[in-house]
Amino acid sequence: NAKEKVQWVCSNCGYSAGQWWGVCRSCSVSGTMKEARFGDDSDSVVSGFSVLEDGVGSWLPQQEGEMRPLRLAEVNRGLDHHHWRIPLSGPFGDEVSRVLGGGLVPGSLTLIGGDPGVGKSTLLLQIAAIIAEGHNDGETSPVVYVSGEESVEQIGNRADRLRIESDIYLYSSNDVEDILKKVQYLSPGALIVDSIQTVYLKEIMGSPGGIMQVKECTSALLRFAKKTNIPVLLIGHVTKSGDIAGPRVLEHIVDVVLYMEGEKYSSHRMLRAVKNRFGSTDELGVFEMSHSGLQAVSNASEMFLSEQHMDSEILAGLAVAVIMDGSRTFLIEIQALCLSGSTGSRQVNGIQVNRADMIISVLIKQAGLRLREHAVFLNVVSGLTLAETAGDLAIAAAICSSCLEIPIPNDVAFIGEIGLGGELRMVPRMEKRVYTVAKLGFRMCIVPKVAEKALGTEGLEKMKVVGCRNLKEVINTVF
Ligand code: TYD
Ligand code: MG
Repeated sequence: NAKEKVQWVCSNCGYSAGQWWGVCRSCSVSGTMKEARFGDDSDSVVSGFSVLEDGVGSWLPQQEGEMRPLRLAEVNRGLDHHHWRIPLSGPFGDEVSRVLGGGLVPGSLTLIGGDPGVGKSTLLLQIAAIIAEGHNDGETSPVVYVSGEESVEQIGNRADRLRIESDIYLYSSNDVEDILKKVQYLSPGALIVDSIQTVYLKEIMGSPGGIMQVKECTSALLRFAKKTNIPVLLIGHVTKSGDIAGPRVLEHIVDVVLYMEGEKYSSHRMLRAVKNRFGSTDELGVFEMSHSGLQAVSNASEMFLSEQHMDSEILAGLAVAVIMDGSRTFLIEIQALCLSGSTGSRQVNGIQVNRADMIISVLIKQAGLRLREHAVFLNVVSGLTLAETAGDLAIAAAICSSCLEIPIPNDVAFIGEIGLGGELRMVPRMEKRVYTVAKLGFRMCIVPKVAEKALGTEGLEKMKVVGCRNLKEVINTVF
């Protein structure tokens, strides 16, 4: 190849330069600049390896000449809208489906990121099981689960524990080329690769997990997915140190990015879409990690209420807020503790400090509470962070309750934003919030006056919706 161009590429961060540097100019790590030869324009640009024999493996480098712009009508004619998404059935499948925007899209590349140990392999094995169980017309298609981290026996053991008996092929390999070659002839319903950090392409320099490998392997998998129409699900670990080769650099390559999150000492796991070329990103899936795998949580709305809250003994300083995450409504408990006779210090946990300060000031000025001589502690139960102003009213109510030492009955919920004049303001999706509260058997829901008028009565027969104009009215109603 006459026109070969030499580039120097950092194996740590991917920075490339026309000359060699002892210390990478981008990430400042020394000794990482390696020589890379890229062919001239007829070869693939970045991957740098030549086209393999026809047939198997030809998806690796993008082939020129085969791609051409298509007319919109041409594209849409070929689409069968009923098979546009692969449905995932059952309660677990519904939950995953919702996060994906209604099912798995054929030919899509989905990245599932999360901390090590959060349950990604478990999630994907369960997804593999429901896809393999068959859907449309009872037609089953096998699913291939490839692991570069575990042996097939280990995956088999996990499948046993999850009582999976579907048609899943297990394969343990790190070589992407080998994986795709072996997978293609099975023509599976889906391909799962666990994890992107453990696979490599021979032609690319750097060790598995390095930026170049991770990017190139992902691109190869993307081309495979697009070409074969087989959906590919990819696992990626995120490390606390903000690993540069972690899934974050891949977010723009893949079609869908889901993150799996969970508190260390809780069995709840959340699945959130942070990027979705085929749907919205506000969906949230809630699961519980049990001894036999992940289970969809049916009573997700109440899961953040503390157990004490359900008890009959009611303490002062507790109030229930109604927040939205995606299309989901959650009830969370706000705790306040006001200590008199001390300096006005404030300790806030799970609420923005500025917001808490504002609410306290409004309570002093507009509701006449003597909080200046009180130390105020605020806490959101279960380690959640309250990011919505819809929780203002519950925060104010919790503070009032503690300050006046009058408990709020545990079947009262609060929804509303507080303005500087102490007035209650509307928040988005009021109806949805109020209905959730009613469905959970609450007796009373305090809302801004304007919202009360807008709400119908249907479904609210058993709950009193009380509209208040300002904080004074709330205090008169509740205490
Ligand atoms: P795993 O899926 O291996 O996590 P990741 O792939 O994200 O690293 O699961 C990790 C944890 O899940 C592990 O600590 C054990 C727990 N677990 C259960 O509690 N129940 C189960 O049925 C399974 C399979 C795992
Ligand atoms: Mg794993």
